[in-house]
Amino acid sequence: MHIYELDTPSVVIDVDVLEKNINDMADHCKNLGITLRGHTKSHKNPEIAKMQVAAGSKGIVCQKLGDAENMARAGLDDILMTYNIVGNQKVRRLVNLAGFRRMTVTVDSLAVAAGISEQAATEGVTIGVLVEFDSGGNRTGVQSPAAAEELGKQIQQLPGLKLRGLMTYPSQISSKRLVDETIDRFKKANLPLDIISGGGTGEEWESKELGFTEHRSGSYVYEGLSRIKGAGDGSDLSPERCPLRVVTTIVSVPTSDRLIVDAGMKTFRLFPSMPYGLILDDPELKFSGMSVEHGHIDSTGTNRKFSVGDKLTVIPTYQEGVTNLHDEIVWIRNDQVEHVWRNEGRGKVK
Ligand SMILES: Cc1ncc(COP(=O)(O)O)c(C=O)c1O
Repeated sequence: MHIYELDTPSVVIDVDVLEKNINDMADHCKNLGITLRGHTKSHKNPEIAKMQVAAGSKGIVCQKLGDAENMARAGLDDILMTYNIVGNQKVRRLVNLAGFRRMTVTVDSLAVAAGISEQAATEGVTIGVLVEFDSGGNRTGVQSPAAAEELGKQIQQLPGLKLRGLMTYPSQISSKRLVDETIDRFKKANLPLDIISGGGTGEEWESKELGFTEHRSGSYVYEGLSRIKGAGDGSDLSPERCPLRVVTTIVSVPTSDRLIVDAGMKTFRLFPSMPYGLILDDPELKFSGMSVEHGHIDSTGTNRKFSVGDKLTVIPTYQEGVTNLHDEIVWIRNDQVEHVWRNEGRGKVK
């Protein structure tokens, strides 16, 4: 079936482009000599995670437990959680996962580590732990090399936890002194450094240069290796690089310069500012706005005539956001439908 026979709006993934992005990143990391750990937060799709692992990703990394549970149920193993797991309900779920999968989790405080330790010890399981340090991301992470060392030592005293090393995000060369000092302190204190984990698509070389043992990348599955960070002008959207598209139908042509499609904010997510996406059928068509369930397209730039019922394919600007909104994702090759995948990871934000 051709994609234009699908009911719309439909989210489709061009598997040829997806495979190329996954293989390119795996080759890139192999050439650099850094171990890749594929992030799943971009797609939350076990099928894609398995493709990442088959291409050379060492285990996976998840941000949320719901995603990790979905991946574990699908057979994926060696799961790193780069998130402080806080609260009884979540700690129980983490410990439950550790009962049948190899789990490692990052922490940046004794409070988080102690909560996990208590439940893990009660259940008789061991969970790997990395100390997260802030190397300039200004999000989570301990705030100094001394604090990293202190937390590492405290974790070693806690039952049910096995300290495995360090983690930070993103990998930035400008933080080299801080990174060196943090690693140095761990070494001098004889704390384990089996894993030193950095991350961020496009920062693989930085992870290697900083002496990390592995690199976490996620966005590359949808945006490719050569993502133009922060370009924001649409130049980073191309069908050769972006496998994810939204197929829409024109539902109204109210004026000679305006088309309305059946996909608005609830299909595309609240878009970042313009451009909203690239319309592949005619790049001279430009989104001019979004209602909740309608997309507004300015057609002044093209001489082509479009009618009610015509289909348009869009590469959305924020692809990760789009996958998180739809129950079904359609796998395609050469614009032909291969199969429809139930998007079970969507909305798994707990
Ligand atoms: C902790 C952590 N590691 C790795 C990544 C992967 O970054 P990217 O999506 O740029 O590959 C992210 C992205 O948000 C992250 O938060």
